[in-house]
Amino acid sequence: MEKRELLYDGKAKQIFATDDPKYVIMNYKDDASAYYGVKKSSIKDKGMMNCHISEIIFNYLQKCGIKTHLVKCIDDNNMLCRRVKAIPLEFIVRNLIAGSLARRLDIQEGTMPQSPIYEICLKSDLLRDPMINRFHVKALGYATDETLDAILKMLKQVNEALQKLFRQVDIDVVDFKLEFGFDNDGELILIDEISPDTARFWDSNSKEILDSDRFRRDLGQVEEAYHEVLDRLQKLTSNLD
Ligand code: TMP
Repeated sequence: MEKRELLYDGKAKQIFATDDPKYVIMNYKDDASAYYGVKKSSIKDKGMMNCHISEIIFNYLQKCGIKTHLVKCIDDNNMLCRRVKAIPLEFIVRNLIAGSLARRLDIQEGTMPQSPIYEICLKSDLLRDPMINRFHVKALGYATDETLDAILKMLKQVNEALQKLFRQVDIDVVDFKLEFGFDNDGELILIDEISPDTARFWDSNSKEILDSDRFRRDLGQVEEAYHEVLDRLQKLTSNLD
């Protein structure tokens, strides 16, 4: 498939058209950013690591019956994906309290809520992804009630599948962010990426941080942490093959 014009140039990824209108190519960059683009840097091999981590996770989710935009990896940084009409919302699932929720409600990081917590944010760097609720979503036309119900069902399915996968590599899935869109056939599918850029991963035993908080909080060893996540997932999946 041929790479054509740049459709979207984001902080961590670019999306290119292809010669087939049903597909796009997603290019994972080494660029790192935090605080809505205020803090910027580059992390060696981050694009390659996030591309392969997302590939392993999306393939696993597809085996669990969850539809995603992944078709295949073309090379270390480029992923062939189904083209979608993206829903302009970000959905956060929290299994442990951390990050902005810990700060906002003054709850100690690592506290386990009685059940997973779901949040909806409007996708807008300019507005700093403000949290909204399902009344805003419906009244402002971001998605219908029916779509939102289908997404909430998928959030639960993804969360269960992710926890099952990561339990096998001794990693706690603290929280993660998902995005959705409608493919060419009008089917709701999971898009974007699932990686240490968009999720919090802690080593189950040492509670060592293995995600982008190492970059956000200047903890060092960022590249090593991403490598650790990829290595563990690759070892697990090669054993399963
Ligand atoms: P938060 O605690 O900063 O709100 O982040 C919750 C989760 O969502 C965390 O795993 C990081 C992810 N996330 C993104 O992927 N993109 C974003 O723009 C934000 C705000 C969070």
